[in-house]
Amino acid sequence: MKNGEERVGILTAMENEVRLLLSKAEIERTDRIGGVNFHTGTLSGRKVVIAQAGIGKALSAAGASTMLNQYNVKALIFTGVAGGVGDETRVLDLVIGTELVQYDYGIRNQDGFHWSPPLFSSDTGHFICDAELADMAWNAAVGVVGPEHTFRGVIASGDQFVASESFVRELRDTFGAVACEMEGAAVASVCEQYGVPFAVIRSMSDKADGKAHESIENMGDLAADHCGRVVMRMLEEMKK
Ligand code: ADE
Repeated sequence: MKNGEERVGILTAMENEVRLLLSKAEIERTDRIGGVNFHTGTLSGRKVVIAQAGIGKALSAAGASTMLNQYNVKALIFTGVAGGVGDETRVLDLVIGTELVQYDYGIRNQDGFHWSPPLFSSDTGHFICDAELADMAWNAAVGVVGPEHTFRGVIASGDQFVASESFVRELRDTFGAVACEMEGAAVASVCEQYGVPFAVIRSMSDKADGKAHESIENMGDLAADHCGRVVMRMLEEMKK
C-alpha cells in the first residue's frame, strides 16, 4: 500500500502541537483517513507527511498505523507536550526519548496492578528509539532551549493525565522516567511492528503534579511551539 515519495512522518496528539508545523509547511495535498487529516508537502526542505491524530494511546496508534500504511515513511517523529517527571526537569525543558514504556500495561491480581510486558511473548515492553534520530533531535533541542534545558531518557506513556506527585515518584522509581505523556509508547510499538525508526520529542508543559492543569493551560501553547521548532531544525539537519 505504501506509495509515493519517501517522507518523514510527523505525528502529534493536539492541534497546538501541529499548528506551527502546518503554518510553515508547503502543503500539497490533504487526505482525510479515519477522521484524521494527513497533510503531505515540504517542510524545512524535506518531504513530509504531518498529522494530528488525537489524544491517548488508541488514537495515536491508529494514526501511526494509517500513516505508515498509506505513505512511504522512512522515519517517524512524534512530538508534543508532556509532564516532567525528574527533579531536574522544569516547565519548558525538552526531553528526547531514549526508550518508551506503557506504564499502564500489565497484570491486575488480588494485590493490585503489576507492570508487565505482554504475556506469552518475548517483548520486553520497552521500545527503543532510533539512536541517530535521537542524536539529531538532541542537537536540534539544544539549539532551541540550550543544553541545560535539554534531557534524554525514558518516557512513560499511559491513558491518564498525571497530576499527582506520588505517582510521578512511582514512574521515576519504577521506570527511571523523565517525562510522562499519553501517546509515545503506543506510537513506538506500531513503528517497531512496521520496522520504521522513530523519535519522540517532548516539551514539558507541566510537572505532572497538583499544578499540572493550571500549568498546561498557561504554558501548553509555548511548549508546543518549542516542539515545532525542534522538529524543523531536525528536518534541516536531515536535509544535509
Ligand atoms: N501531557 C502534558 N502533561 C501531561 C501530564 N501531566 N500527564 C499526561 N500527559 C501529559
